[in-house]
Amino acid sequence: MGYRILLVGSGGREHALAWKLLQSPLCDRLLAAPGNPGIAALGRGLGAGRVTMVNVGAEAIPKLVALAKAEKIDLVVCGPEVPLMAGLGDACVAAGLRCFGPSRAAAEIEGSKQFAKDLMRRAGIPTAAYGSFSDVATADAFIDAQPGDVVVKADGLCAGKGVVVTSAHDEAKRAVRTMLVDRAFGDAGGRVVIEERLIGREVSMMALCDGTRFVLLASAEDHKAVFDGDRGPNTGGMGAYSPSPLVDQALTETIARKFFAPLVAAMAEAGRPFRGLLYGGLMLTPERGPLVIEWNCRFGDPETQAVLPRLDEDLLPWLLDAASGELPMLSPQWLPGLAVCVVLAADGYPGKVRSGDPIAGLGDDGQLAGEGSDLVVFHAGTKRGPGGLLTSGGRVLGVTANGGNLVEARDRAYAGIARISWPGMHFRKDIGLRGKA
Ligand code: AMP
Ligand code: GLY
Repeated sequence: MGYRILLVGSGGREHALAWKLLQSPLCDRLLAAPGNPGIAALGRGLGAGRVTMVNVGAEAIPKLVALAKAEKIDLVVCGPEVPLMAGLGDACVAAGLRCFGPSRAAAEIEGSKQFAKDLMRRAGIPTAAYGSFSDVATADAFIDAQPGDVVVKADGLCAGKGVVVTSAHDEAKRAVRTMLVDRAFGDAGGRVVIEERLIGREVSMMALCDGTRFVLLASAEDHKAVFDGDRGPNTGGMGAYSPSPLVDQALTETIARKFFAPLVAAMAEAGRPFRGLLYGGLMLTPERGPLVIEWNCRFGDPETQAVLPRLDEDLLPWLLDAASGELPMLSPQWLPGLAVCVVLAADGYPGKVRSGDPIAGLGDDGQLAGEGSDLVVFHAGTKRGPGGLLTSGGRVLGVTANGGNLVEARDRAYAGIARISWPGMHFRKDIGLRGKA
């Protein structure tokens, strides 16, 4: 039988999910709420006649549930974290809908840094030492007592902006004041977690979870800083590549055993079984091995745009099985080689961005003409104007190339990028280059 899917979200991650799900012969129809022009264009190509764009926002929970009921949706797939923290997963389950995405209680693994840290402490999962505080004096005393630098994090969701990596205790105290006193992040910063600052390479590991079991996906590395050489302010991610050469078979097993298995078990024991995508951000420290930096309750962006193009299987059965609590204990198959995703950002990103610049180089299908499935342009912040595609957001496009090796994948991605332009477009030239080390 064919399945009807409701995909919630509008970024590059959701475009990658739509692109992969529409390759499934089991997918009869994909509704995107609200989707983006790249997803809409799939309805004229790969997903011909199977894509419906719905003008319902990703955070309009009752409307999404009503839509899913009316459209007899078999699976709701949620991209972003905010709807999950707002209870989309619970609302779906209450309405008898199958949802790939956790309950609000389980989404707290991302939605509350303190909850995540306390759970890890109880479960013995290696992570940075920390304290959590809601008043300035105690936070200051904790900072003074630390031998090294610290990282200050707002407890709640801040669209990736609530983390300040500091290099001096004064700086850390200022960050605490910005959050606790000035309420720069509103209630999300009413409590702060202060952690020891770790040094090392970061890797992203994602797993499909069904409440009690998990299946790891291929590893990836994000590139968070805006400029080449990891310089400049942090962004949502300027590119990713997969797999990470740092994550060999032995490390994969360690990550499964010491991080994912105890976390999934602890969530179930806490009465918050995790169903959906569990994302672990790990720092590989030279002295203490891997330590958790963060858990997320959803697919990574832009990691997903580098991981899914290598998945050599139909994604839909995996999501259905995870959402139904029946994940098979198998490992998915991956294409050989590597995938590199380079993000093309708008003028000003990650600061104040300019929108509405005309994007040159893409065809009506939102893709580069004459390319096959080893070069895909994922739309993140685009909109359709009268004369064609316009920029609409900070991260505008993600160009993903598959290749037999790093050089091939990078060359293909950057050759594609050379054909795309708009005023103020910028991107990193060194995505994946660390993979050479
Ligand atoms: P998060 O929102 O928790 O992912 O943090 C954003 C980024 O801040 C991470 O990807 C790291 O680069 C950095 N970061 C977070 N926690 C730490 C830590 N304890 N030590 C060093 N860097 C960190
Ligand atoms: N790329 C990091 C994240 O999705 O949180």
